[in-house]
Amino acid sequence: MSLVSILPYLKRAQHDHYALPLFDTADMYSIDGIFAAAEEKHAPVMVAVYAGVLEQLNARPFAAYIRTRAEASPVPVSLILDHGGSFEHCIKAMALGFTDVMYDGSSLPFEENVANTRAVVRAAHAVGMAVEAELGHVGSGAEYQEFGAQRKGFTNPDDVERFVAATDVDILAVAIGTAHGLYAGEPHLDLDLLREIRSRVDIPLSLHGGSGCSDQQFRDAIAAGISKVNVATDLFVTTARRLTEAARAEDMPYFTFGKVATTSFIERCGHYLDVFGATGNG
Ligand code: 13P
Repeated sequence: MSLVSILPYLKRAQHDHYALPLFDTADMYSIDGIFAAAEEKHAPVMVAVYAGVLEQLNARPFAAYIRTRAEASPVPVSLILDHGGSFEHCIKAMALGFTDVMYDGSSLPFEENVANTRAVVRAAHAVGMAVEAELGHVGSGAEYQEFGAQRKGFTNPDDVERFVAATDVDILAVAIGTAHGLYAGEPHLDLDLLREIRSRVDIPLSLHGGSGCSDQQFRDAIAAGISKVNVATDLFVTTARRLTEAARAEDMPYFTFGKVATTSFIERCGHYLDVFGATGNG
């Protein structure tokens, strides 16, 4: 099936009421784990690279590794830039063979977010890539009590139609109560707001800050209109914990580290694929 733009798969997920995961990667072991999970579960998947990785010396071989793995994979795989911070980031991702990009102008004033997103969309659509943008602002888990829990940054449903029409964006990330990273306290999702946003536009909606939400919260959010869920922190924190435990064994062989990391990603990613209903849809 191989390397694809994720948009038709997300539209199918939206139509059939399940969600596809975006998993962020850091290295070969996490990538191998994501591929193994997606293939075992016969599910489409987005393998994501943070914009900061584009600045690293290994950006090109890193992207090439994911592309080469995707080309040989029996399931549909998108290579997507996560939280591109500028037009230049997105162009760089295009040049490296990404299939989709997220441009994140969510901290900017509305009109600036519109103008920048529109520019990215024009460039991306010219080469067949889909674009995700964020309206409202998903904050960080460490600041959750002062930010998301106070409804700060929540997407204004009255802005949604205007934003989508003005930008022609393909996927919309919404702020409804999640946050990136580990939560201070419990996340509370505003599903009425999500349903309201869902009723205003017809493009796939994306939930960031998946780590720390319960399985039931995911199911409820998907039933209320989410078609894409981003997960990163849980994968890295869980895997780091397992590596630490493994490293306590005396004379642990170097090669065991890679196996522990990959196995951890297979298990966590497989869990999310099942919970999101993505399993069997690849
Ligand atoms: P978490 O790290 O909280 O799972 O969020 C991931 C994310 O939204 C990446 O865009």
